[in-house]
Amino acid sequence: MEKRKVYFDNNATTPMHPEVKKAITNALDVFGNPSSLHAYGRHARMLVEGARESVASFIGARPDELLFVGSGSEGNNTILSILNSQCRMCEYNTCSGKELVTTRIEHPCVLETSKCLAERGVRVTYLDVDKDGKVDLDQLKGSISPRTGLVSIMMANNEIGTIQDVRAISRIVHERGALLHTDAVQAVGKVPVDVTDLGVDFLTLSAHKIYGPKGIGAVYVRKNAPFCPLIRGGHQERGRRAGTENTIGIVALGKAVELRSVEMADEEKRLRRMKETLRKGIAEKIPDIHFVGHPTDSLPGTLNVSFEGAEGEAILLYLDLAGIAVSTGSACASGSLDPSHVILATGLPVECAHGSIRISMGRENTFDDVDYMLSVLPDVIARIRGMSSAYARRQ
Ligand SMILES: Cc1ncc(COP(=O)(O)O)c(C=O)c1O
Repeated sequence: MEKRKVYFDNNATTPMHPEVKKAITNALDVFGNPSSLHAYGRHARMLVEGARESVASFIGARPDELLFVGSGSEGNNTILSILNSQCRMCEYNTCSGKELVTTRIEHPCVLETSKCLAERGVRVTYLDVDKDGKVDLDQLKGSISPRTGLVSIMMANNEIGTIQDVRAISRIVHERGALLHTDAVQAVGKVPVDVTDLGVDFLTLSAHKIYGPKGIGAVYVRKNAPFCPLIRGGHQERGRRAGTENTIGIVALGKAVELRSVEMADEEKRLRRMKETLRKGIAEKIPDIHFVGHPTDSLPGTLNVSFEGAEGEAILLYLDLAGIAVSTGSACASGSLDPSHVILATGLPVECAHGSIRISMGRENTFDDVDYMLSVLPDVIARIRGMSSAYARRQ
């Protein structure tokens, strides 16, 4: 009998939607350079601009406010780097403030860029979060100074799923004269996102989290907002991102968001029901656990749970043997296992942070997958805890 397989790691990446695969296959023959003026080029240009309209309309933006980039990471790097620009060559007005406010729970592509900016003289403030992963809005108010150029706060966290109140954040930021970027890589396509309603100046999204391919993303830049290209040397994307367009990736991203606009609402409800079944099942069957993340303001399919007396990596490997794919927040670096910076920021003790796994469900998951997980996980945890002398001593 073939082993059962359950993919519960949709926040890492998603399987491509069959309709996206078809759109890619069709686009493979459109090889023209979108900048060429002949028919080959015009055909490619038409596909790129069609996708731009789809993505822009999906997030409530105008097509000329959207630029395609090579990934969510590139998008975030691009926006944060406007703080570093004192570029006289730049035809855009660049950011006047030289301070950045961000949070402790951002994706590494924001945290590492922030560190790099700090090395270059940008003052960076990191906001704390509460036990559910919500940003402290009072601390935000107190952290923005007249020199703050940019505030960057992710809309939904990739590890614990907590969704921030971006609308309230935008009011606070704009009342104080700063600009707001939100990394919405995990939010777009999973919950409604409208840039005008949220009031953000910049937003980043990525295709591979929403059933599109890897290596293509987009950035919303509000009209007249400061900007400075990260990649120079071509007129593509109206001079904002040089390099011949990834036509196939762009078409695929366009198709992915078109499908999201049809499928997202029902899927969101279904995933929330599945998550609740999983949450209740785990709580009933397994003692000494902690759920991490906001109970309601959270991504529909993301559940982060920490098991006392069990290492996340061990849980992951045992589940993998049973055909179930999940992830942990730990990074195995230089021989040491660092607990997740996100889990630690919520105040969970280091031992518990080591025992956390992220279950992230997506469009292909079913209630049968949840039942299978609930039939496997209690034995996995019992087996790992049985080998832990520290856990045994506590009992
Ligand atoms: C919140 C968040 N931001 C940014 C990224 C980076 O996106 P990409 O993989 O497209 O570079 C990820 C990917 O894991 C993410 O979860």
